[in-house]
Amino acid sequence: MLLQLGSISTLVVSSPSTAREIMKTHDLVFASRPSLKAGRILVYNNNDLALAPYGEYWRRTRKICVTNLLSLKMIQSFSLVRMEEVSLMIERIACMASTNNGVVCVSEILNKLTIDVLCKSVLGSSLSEERRKVFCELVRLNSIFFGKFFLEDYFPWLRWLDVLFGLEGELRRHSKKMDALLGEFVEEHVSQLAEGETTSSSTCFIDVLLQLQKDSTLPFVLTKEQIKGLLSDLIAADTSPALLDWCMVELIRNPIVMEKVQSEVRGIANGEEKVREEYLGKLTYMKAVIKEVLRLHPPIPLLLPRESLQDCKIEEYNISKKTRVLINTWAIGRDEVYWKKPLDFKTERFLGDDVDYKGNDFHYIPFGAGHRICPGIQFAISIVELALANLVYRFNWKLPSGISCDGMDMEDSAGITTRRNENLYLVSLEI
Ligand code: HEM
Repeated sequence: MLLQLGSISTLVVSSPSTAREIMKTHDLVFASRPSLKAGRILVYNNNDLALAPYGEYWRRTRKICVTNLLSLKMIQSFSLVRMEEVSLMIERIACMASTNNGVVCVSEILNKLTIDVLCKSVLGSSLSEERRKVFCELVRLNSIFFGKFFLEDYFPWLRWLDVLFGLEGELRRHSKKMDALLGEFVEEHVSQLAEGETTSSSTCFIDVLLQLQKDSTLPFVLTKEQIKGLLSDLIAADTSPALLDWCMVELIRNPIVMEKVQSEVRGIANGEEKVREEYLGKLTYMKAVIKEVLRLHPPIPLLLPRESLQDCKIEEYNISKKTRVLINTWAIGRDEVYWKKPLDFKTERFLGDDVDYKGNDFHYIPFGAGHRICPGIQFAISIVELALANLVYRFNWKLPSGISCDGMDMEDSAGITTRRNENLYLVSLEI
């Protein structure tokens, strides 16, 4: 669908065949991002990776991200971090359940888990309780501001209304706070490195970036703003708590699927205290559950906006240079041509099927595709699989009394990344 929104031509893509045209056939033409107000103010004039326009800076930064930060080797080096944090999660559930008639706020537990894994990987250590509160609130606001409608993005001459209604002021105040926190993280690591201290056994992302900054053999210099921009992406991009939350919701709503996934995990890790990473490769059914959840509840339902670098023809439409493109992966995952009974939660559709989220199947693109595909897939999936396997291995789960599946709110919250509107509370029974 081609729309004229203010002064911006906008192409909304809701079919797999058009998505293939954009992200495969003409991938390079659509490999850029529009410059939006939130990106200019929040990430140093798009000096990050996710919102950077296509070009030399993006290529360099993407390479750093893929080879130095999110490589398989780096992800494997955080294996111990993931296992430690999952063990702490199990202890926390048992503790919460014992003081609360078995009722656990699953959303809170999952948030804490994923934030701690992320902080240990990015910053080398977890945050104090007080700092975590500030951090979580800033990350939540970041997602909201990136998803907000600013008049200037569609009607540049109406910027004064964003200012008049106070939206721009709010964004700038938030940006100052985020910048101050990111600046503190960087300064702390600069002094630790100067004193020869390291914070953990595996090198964290921030230290890798600071080492690259000092590397005189590189043909470019990473500025402090670029480091903060990249850190902001790595911290804010993680939508795995939303994915894990939806996994638990769908398992509760589909007790037969829960039984099957539990029997698979329990059969494989039988007798062990916890499910270890070595077992994950064998959990075919659980992987299919995660894929089905990603189909029905993609955490970034409109991907990240793209912009065409030149005129181009897509199907019968002439698309002019600088057209904004929104790819609706939520609708694509419900396309009846590709998915039988698309609204049903059916894990079986992914069993014995090669459909994957690596960007080759355009009817299934929860992580995007092409040049701009998410570079954090493996990072996200490794913690999601480990956490889910242990949640269903160690505990049986049910809804608190008085709450039925039909009464559960299935709506998503607002923001560029979505998650369920309500926190999930469940009763956990340790086995
Ligand atoms: C369940 C978890 C995640 C989901 C569903 C997800 C999804 C996505 C999607 C849909 C995009 C846009 C792709 C496109 O435009 O075609 C994206 C981009 C990106 N993601 Fe993820 N992501 C997840 C986790 C992560 C993690 C853990 C990281 C890093 C720690 C990460 C880092 C990024 C970055 C840096 C980009 C921008 C890439 C670019 O523009 O070149 N993501 N992600």
